[in-house]
Amino acid sequence: MGGATARVPAKINLHLGVGPLRDDGFHELSTLYCALSLYDEVTVRAADDLSVTVRGESRRQVPADATNLAARAVVALATHAGTDPRVAITIAKNIPVAGGMAGGSADAAGALVAAARLWRLDITRDELLAIAADLGSDVPFSVVGGAALGTGRGERLLPVLHRGELHWVLAVAGTGLSTPDVYREIDRLRARDEDQPTAAGTARPDPLLQALASGDVHAVAPLLHNDLQPAALSLQPMLRRTLRAGREAGALAGIVSGSGPTCAFLCADADAAVSVAAELSGSGVAKAVRTASGPVPGARLVPIN
Ligand code: C5P
Repeated sequence: MGGATARVPAKINLHLGVGPLRDDGFHELSTLYCALSLYDEVTVRAADDLSVTVRGESRRQVPADATNLAARAVVALATHAGTDPRVAITIAKNIPVAGGMAGGSADAAGALVAAARLWRLDITRDELLAIAADLGSDVPFSVVGGAALGTGRGERLLPVLHRGELHWVLAVAGTGLSTPDVYREIDRLRARDEDQPTAAGTARPDPLLQALASGDVHAVAPLLHNDLQPAALSLQPMLRRTLRAGREAGALAGIVSGSGPTCAFLCADADAAVSVAAELSGSGVAKAVRTASGPVPGARLVPIN
């Protein structure tokens, strides 16, 4: 029986500005996504029933049933194509779960790309991106990858110009954070403190876009920003120690990734990232420490083994 495998990157948000809560329960965003070289692999094979198998250290934290976003992606694509979603999905999980790095969205994007190949669908990129957007705010970016400005609830994308590679160290926390909980917490904090001088809201991050286009990591570093960071720190105060440890280890800057709790540290170059990762590993502030670089392309088919 045939099969197809897609490799899909994790993401971080170099800028995450959170605007007002909308009537549909989402917040209006202005965000700069960056795909990183940390990948999940999603394989889809023709089968008698729809099933999900998850491999990797964190497999027990991921639902292996129809609620998995990859399974929902396959069902949505099958409905669009008028076919049966009878496939066995295998996810090789490497992106931190509930880490603010779009791991679930990556799996959904991978399932879409792999199933579209398996079924030899004649589907346009725009149709695929519309299905992706229905599955989750970050899923279209997981398909596209690279570096992109996200607006709306994050699903409307514009590619942005970037030069060179950015080198990162990721500090993965022992306990995940739920994205809705973090957004609820930002609403609570905002209702409590009327004055939020540091919030970026929906303004376009022009200085950061210019820095990214110039390829100067030292210009990018001070412009990293995340409006969700205070909410993630409020829910996991220990992350303050992690952020401090990364900077003390020699990173140029550190931020909470998306809704957290993974912390992302930008380093001057690949060697600096290895040295920051080694020091951070020894500091005991994170469950796991990884290095990654980006921007990298989004979901791509890979030869099946
Ligand atoms: O779109 P996604 O399924 O990733 O969103 C998960 C949850 O995160 C939403 O249900 C909502 O609570 C919150 N969210 C939000 N505003 C966004 C994106 C997500 O409030 N722009």
